[in-house]
Amino acid sequence: MKAQDLEAALRAAHGSEFEQLCVLELIDSTNAEALRRLSAGQEARQLIVAQCQSAGRGRRGRRWLSPPGAGLYVTLTREFSVAMESLQALSLVTAISVREALVAQGLHSAQLKWPNDILVAEKKLAGILLETCQWQGQPVIIFGIGINLDLPAAVLAEIDRPVTDLRQALAMLEKSLQEPAEVDQAALLSTLVTRWQHNVEEFLNQGFAPFTARWNDADCYAGREVIVSSGAQDWQGQVLGVDEQGALLLDTPSGTKVIRGGEVLPTLRPLADA
Ligand code: BTN
Repeated sequence: MKAQDLEAALRAAHGSEFEQLCVLELIDSTNAEALRRLSAGQEARQLIVAQCQSAGRGRRGRRWLSPPGAGLYVTLTREFSVAMESLQALSLVTAISVREALVAQGLHSAQLKWPNDILVAEKKLAGILLETCQWQGQPVIIFGIGINLDLPAAVLAEIDRPVTDLRQALAMLEKSLQEPAEVDQAALLSTLVTRWQHNVEEFLNQGFAPFTARWNDADCYAGREVIVSSGAQDWQGQVLGVDEQGALLLDTPSGTKVIRGGEVLPTLRPLADA
């Protein structure tokens, strides 16, 4: 889809909700662009979409490979009037919003991986990177979302973990068809923006509690044995779900651990060997 057609569709649906809305063919990183605009004094509520990033950023300092046509790269920004520490679960809320938008496009097999990945068949389809800054004395969160559309073989070969894209995920869904249906990018993004706005408001009013069951029902690793790595420390145990703050509860040999930050790694090792 051409950038200008995607922008026109997003403007028609969401033009009045954002002070800045644009779809770019190429940028270094939509998150970096949002930060630049905020630093230059531009308004806090932005929706920036790119079709290619030359320096896409992932979590934990990784790169997010973003060649043309391979994905949709989205940044939403918003100011908050409460302390940043109370907003940590917004990364899970954003993952729930991305999943809801994918399900609305028929991808019912989309699942969640704590804290904020979207998987299909245990392979990563979309990732989320939250960054923060101060804007006119208020905290602003930069919500970066990358959704794989059609990863070229060269990119697949460069990524050292299981990944998938919407093209493959839809093809699995429609095994009988020669060619999977094209994803409607405008509908996907528009639903994502709508769900995200609604969910952020719900979170600000009620906290994470209304999202607990929504997360746990869609958690790919619910009840399964995993290793959770925080970088400094690893825990092995069975996933019990997330609590009302969005922390991961892990049943380990030394009791239930409440984990607020880290990365879930699947393991085939039984608990007894831990
Ligand atoms: C992850 O590592 O899982 C998070 C990936 C986040 C990628 C998105 S693409 C849009 C936005 N701009 C960036 O540079 N990164 C995020």
